[in-house]
Amino acid sequence: MAKINDEDIDRLRDTADIVEVISGYTQLKKSGGSTFKGLCTFHSDKTPSMSVDQAKGLFFCFGCGEGGNIYHFVQKMENLDFPDAVEWLARKTGFQLRYEEQRPGERQARGLKQRIVAANEEATKFFHKALMDSPEASGARQYLASRGFDREVAASWELGYAPGRDSLTKHLTGKGFTHEELLKANLSRKSDRDGSLYDAYRQRIIFPTRSHQGDVVGFGARKLLESDDGPKYLNTAETPVFQKSRVMYGLLKAKATLGKGDAAIVVEGYTDVIALHEAGIVQAVATNGVALGESHFELLKKFTHRLVLMFDADTAGKGATERGFDLQHKLGLEVLVAPLPEGSDPADVVKNDGADALRKIVDAASPLMEFKLQQTVAKLSLDTPEAKGRAVREVVEVLGWHPDPVARHEYVFMAARLIGVDSDAIQRTLGERGSRPPSESDRAGGVDTGRDRRFPGNVKVEREALQLLVTRTQQAGPWARQISTADFTAPARRELFDAALGTIEAGASELPVEDASKLSPDAFSLFTELSLGADDHPIDDLEGRLLEVFVRLKVFSLERDIKRRRATLQEVNPVDEAGKHDELFTELVGLEAERRDLLRRLQGAA
Ligand code: UTP
Ligand code: MN
Repeated sequence: MAKINDEDIDRLRDTADIVEVISGYTQLKKSGGSTFKGLCTFHSDKTPSMSVDQAKGLFFCFGCGEGGNIYHFVQKMENLDFPDAVEWLARKTGFQLRYEEQRPGERQARGLKQRIVAANEEATKFFHKALMDSPEASGARQYLASRGFDREVAASWELGYAPGRDSLTKHLTGKGFTHEELLKANLSRKSDRDGSLYDAYRQRIIFPTRSHQGDVVGFGARKLLESDDGPKYLNTAETPVFQKSRVMYGLLKAKATLGKGDAAIVVEGYTDVIALHEAGIVQAVATNGVALGESHFELLKKFTHRLVLMFDADTAGKGATERGFDLQHKLGLEVLVAPLPEGSDPADVVKNDGADALRKIVDAASPLMEFKLQQTVAKLSLDTPEAKGRAVREVVEVLGWHPDPVARHEYVFMAARLIGVDSDAIQRTLGERGSRPPSESDRAGGVDTGRDRRFPGNVKVEREALQLLVTRTQQAGPWARQISTADFTAPARRELFDAALGTIEAGASELPVEDASKLSPDAFSLFTELSLGADDHPIDDLEGRLLEVFVRLKVFSLERDIKRRRATLQEVNPVDEAGKHDELFTELVGLEAERRDLLRRLQGAA
């Protein structure tokens, strides 16, 4: 595999016109300087929240927080990995890329991944043959039949049986796989006793997982009897080819249908996915024995904009929390909930009531908010005016999670019907309380500084300090030297501060975009947000502004420090630990004095 020349990667990024590329997806209008604005391509946008800076080669959406350089855009938009995104852009712009031989380390890493996938493929065949033919797998065949999975289903899903104890290890070593490869693939384990290898899965039913690109990347291994040793399922641990948050069972088969616009149906596990697919509902996917998280939502987002969570009512209630609202808004996904009858899973429903019954459950899925409201009201009694009052307050709490005021308004009527009160009562209570953003990362705010209003004071100041540092590096430099990384309260802000300070120390005039793009995704996203969010007008009294922002930042930091010392001081006994107490006390007095000085400086400047 040849590698793309690094210089070409940089040159292509710097010469390609980001405005032209993004214009292929959304209409951009010039909005001053080298900045353009348009409707965001990553979430359903009502007002143009996406900013593109032609000169800097950056984009950022103030609605959903997506941002980066032209490669980030292409990767996200076209669902490509980095090298493919570079090649895509080169083709698009007629840029001739040069290729180089890979360095040995990289070739090795790629080689190991290929070997692990090859070992997994061979293991899949081995397990499958054992399930279909071997006498010792008769219990496994019986179990699968009892779940309604016949030979045809077993073949279609490449189900298998792991006979143990070291039969797979022997088979694969016979095929030329090394011990190291088998251990790295998580297919074998090393015996503590004599260092020999034995199979990771023994006497278990095997569910191979293919990634959405089609490689076997991992396995789920279910025990046959409750009384067997160990957990019900063993899942492949993370390996170089298996990141559980980026893989979903069934996605390879579901992919084609999802592309046609159908909703993805998220179920609990392997057998549920199979049951749905075999019932003709071929959009079902599940995680590989881990909780459904943000990365899974992101993965699914590549294929569809609609998700149906199909869990039993209890699980769905727990999973579908505030985070769900936050995510669905942030990622522009529509999340529905299709609760199963209590205590049953999809395979039970098919077995007892047929495939149609399952389809009915999917069709009756309700929006996350509706489900949550119904669930909230269902567990309350509504027999007295006081009980109704309580219900209104609980429901308002749930309504507050919804970031979209228009949708929230619609749900007010639904909630009123559910409780049996006038919608005004709910509207009023909601108004008193206001909507609470699900988290700091909530992107519901308007364009530009609209977002800032939601941040606590110290966060606002930290962000403005960084913005000044990034956009007016030379003037802000002397101020930045007076504060330190620890004065910032979030990792991304600390990281960006360090990078900006590095720029100043190096005597450069600004933090280069290419350096920023090497920071963590969070820090880089902050960088794009702050650089594109700054208005280009000169600040009237830049020195005054710098003083205010940096001094206030320091004050916030001192106040945190003071609070911490106070708490420690209270725990020290002034009699028994007099020395320590004195020391802390003197420090505290010093910090207080420093704080007063800074506040005076702020007042003097105002
Ligand atoms: P279930 O307990 O429902 O498994 O777990 P099941 O095979 O469907 O068993 P029954 O017939 O309902 O009792 C659902 C999913 O949770 C994960 C697996 O992905 C499984 O498919 N799981 C469960 C684990 O990863 N480890 C476990 O120990 C249990
Ligand atoms: Mn189950």
